[in-house]
Amino acid sequence: MSEVLVQVAAAGVNRPDLRQRSGHYPPPPGVTDIPGLEISGTIVALGADVGEWSVGDRVCALVAGGGYAEFCVVPSGQCLPVPEQFSHIEAAALPETFFTVWHNLFERAALKAGETVLIHGGASGIGTTAIQLARAFGADVFVTAGTDEKCESCLVLGAREAFNYRTGDFVAQVAQATSGRGVDVILDMVAGPYVARNLTCLAIGGRLSIIALQGGRSAEIDLETLMRRRMTITASTLRPQPVLDKARIAASLRSQVWPLLEQGRIKPVVHAIFPFDQAAAAHAELERGEHVGKVMLSVE
Ligand SMILES: NC(=O)c1ccc[n+]([C@@H]2O[C@H](COP(=O)([O-])OP(=O)(O)OC[C@H]3O[C@@H](n4cnc5c(N)ncnc54)[C@H](OP(=O)(O)O)[C@@H]3O)[C@@H](O)[C@H]2O)c1
Repeated sequence: MSEVLVQVAAAGVNRPDLRQRSGHYPPPPGVTDIPGLEISGTIVALGADVGEWSVGDRVCALVAGGGYAEFCVVPSGQCLPVPEQFSHIEAAALPETFFTVWHNLFERAALKAGETVLIHGGASGIGTTAIQLARAFGADVFVTAGTDEKCESCLVLGAREAFNYRTGDFVAQVAQATSGRGVDVILDMVAGPYVARNLTCLAIGGRLSIIALQGGRSAEIDLETLMRRRMTITASTLRPQPVLDKARIAASLRSQVWPLLEQGRIKPVVHAIFPFDQAAAAHAELERGEHVGKVMLSVE
């Protein structure tokens, strides 16, 4: 038994929770149908095989479900220490977006220092993390967002340019901003008709990383362009990945990203905090779509 029991202090609300509630994102087999993909709290019991953690440790953790609860069982490898100076609310805002962005932007799409990246949905929970991580690791960041106010927030977080996709054409704007070269990497949470438009925005050797299908699950693309410009399309979803893979991502985050959090160089953007018994209001807040960053649940 390499699991720990955490007394939950705070949990993050993520768009996948809304999709689960509406019946479109069932928990993986064997996982509770209580929602909640990330928590922070205090370890109150240890499985027999757990050597790394102690009762009383403050941790945050990625979970496959069950985060909206007083207690949550977590594979020990999916726990990370609460960064120094962080509240439980700030710590619970980390796992879902940091695991997702690290895996998709840096591991799968291999974003490197000196490269350019376009992040769709820059003001989302995922987007606000992606902007900060990409900047911290030396990439030049462009984003799309749905209002001028959200665009402004993305610039404050470190984006070089932010394109309001409701009033402009991001394809033309990326071409202009990169003098026609295109960007090296795109993090896409829209898909559907965005896929072909994204390929138009990619530089030779560019990588498109798809993490959500808000615009639709089908796309028509020109494979000749893909071959001629040596592009890569990758896609993944975090929740069904095996515990060992999540533990590997956690270890990578701990060594490469946690020091940046401890140094205060990056921090989660918390938009609103609700008590646990107002989870429905927290979902409504995310559904309104006016947030920048994360919506959280707290017992405090
Ligand atoms: N694959 C994975 O492992 C994984 C893990 C976690 C989350 N996700 C997905 O990642 C997405 C973000 O999650 P979240 O929790 O951060 O949700 P969120 O804060 O609610 O963000 C959703 C974002 O989608 C943006 N959006 C919608 N249509 C758009 C369009 N046409 N162009 C540009 N942006 C558009 C919205 O931007 P505006 O409000 O500015 O319009 C909003 O910021 C969700 O779709 C979620 O399901 C995937």
